[in-house]
Amino acid sequence: MHQATLTLDPAFKVAPVRRRTFGTFVEHLGRCVYTGIYEPDHPTADDDGFRADVLALTRELGVSTVRYPGGNFVSGYRWEDGVGPRSERPRRLDLAWHSTETNEVGVDEFVRWCRKAGVEPMMAVNLGTRGIEAALDLLEYCNHPSGTTLSDLRVANGSKDPHGIAMWCLGNEMDGPWQTGHKTAREYGRLAAETARAMRMVDPSLELVACGSSSSSMPTFGAWEAEVLEEAYDLVDYISCHAYYEEKDGDLGSFLACSTDMEYFIASVVATADHVGARLKSRKRIDISFDEWNIWYQSRFRDDGTPAGWPVAPRLLEDHYHLADAVAFGGLLITLLRNSDRVTAASLAQLVNVIAPIMTEPGGRAWKQTTFHPFAQASRLAAGDVLRVEPVSPVYETARHGEVPLLHAVATHAERGTTVFAVNRSTDAPLSLEIDARALGGVRVVEATTLTHEDVHARNTADDPDRVAPRANADVEQDPLRVLLPPVSWNVIRLA
Ligand code: AHR
Repeated sequence: MHQATLTLDPAFKVAPVRRRTFGTFVEHLGRCVYTGIYEPDHPTADDDGFRADVLALTRELGVSTVRYPGGNFVSGYRWEDGVGPRSERPRRLDLAWHSTETNEVGVDEFVRWCRKAGVEPMMAVNLGTRGIEAALDLLEYCNHPSGTTLSDLRVANGSKDPHGIAMWCLGNEMDGPWQTGHKTAREYGRLAAETARAMRMVDPSLELVACGSSSSSMPTFGAWEAEVLEEAYDLVDYISCHAYYEEKDGDLGSFLACSTDMEYFIASVVATADHVGARLKSRKRIDISFDEWNIWYQSRFRDDGTPAGWPVAPRLLEDHYHLADAVAFGGLLITLLRNSDRVTAASLAQLVNVIAPIMTEPGGRAWKQTTFHPFAQASRLAAGDVLRVEPVSPVYETARHGEVPLLHAVATHAERGTTVFAVNRSTDAPLSLEIDARALGGVRVVEATTLTHEDVHARNTADDPDRVAPRANADVEQDPLRVLLPPVSWNVIRLA
């Protein structure tokens, strides 16, 4: 058995818990929209054609914001195609996913869905095939109250009140050669700056996200962020980060430590942004919108990625997650929370069917993947301030990330209680975690749950949806506070 300790002190604050850490992403990709959130013939469909079972699971997941409509999709998207009478909406080729887009769902339906789900919409504009004018038109259509052609069109289309969208992404992954209309850093930086400047003329209070590198493995990583921010520093609030991880070559130890890479990624982007700020003699601070993160078996997608023909809503990127995926995922969530001073928004990519915590069958059931649970628990229980916990833990050697602690943890503290989120990365032994909570006064463990399974590759299915789910952890001692974390486990410990 391994032994580790961590110390909780409400004085060691990192930052407030940001609700936007618990954002997700709905892209017109595969079955995320069609037969995901929208399926008018489904037995649970409401008057707008939205699946009530998916709405209920979205609420249970505790989602704060939802980014839309892409992703790679947005770089070829004409938003006007998705508004007005459905029967008149054009069908278009979607180059990003080699699919046919029917435009049955567009911005008005999406915002209506957001209101029903109780989430904040976050919109991306097309800076691939389009530019400033289309972005301004979409902004006016969405947010201007009325009295102009575009805002009156929204009213005529059934949305009397403005959509009030605060957060806007200036394009998507514009450094990627796979992106329609991809650009050099200077080209994109100029376009992002001028789009931001024009959008701020409409509404100076908008929160704008410039595209960072599409991953930290891009050859231009670092230089891209610097050049883009040199152009747009004063005009944007966020730089985006995207990261996906998968278990490669059966190397579970490295995979469970993938949050180490995310930590490095965040530190590098923060340093780069601050360096640009220093050179510009600016006191302003650019935050990170980690607006795509997840476990994604991209190697499988590369093998059988492009659909034959141009299907409508094909099955794409439908990864089925196992226990180890959920534990690695929990580690990523811990890292996002630990960096809440600079990562002030994040979007789990994506919400339904496409590398998603929620799965559906067309006309059939919806169920929770293993990754649903760490997200839902953290969203529900992280409250107040994020605390630095400084774990003291044994380490293990990994092929990809060098020496890594077995314990990865964070805590949040609010008047109603303190919660520790912890992952045991050990693949062979439990970890006895001692919590030094003297600074909190006389607290007790009021609840401890563990997500684990004897088979690290156990998955949930429609027939067996609770095979991997959090269970009460009875291995708890109150004095001193000690909890036993099983090997390969995600754990939530509530103190009050
Ligand atoms: O989330 C799936 C895809 O991953 C997105 O469309 C793109 O932005 C990223 O490469």
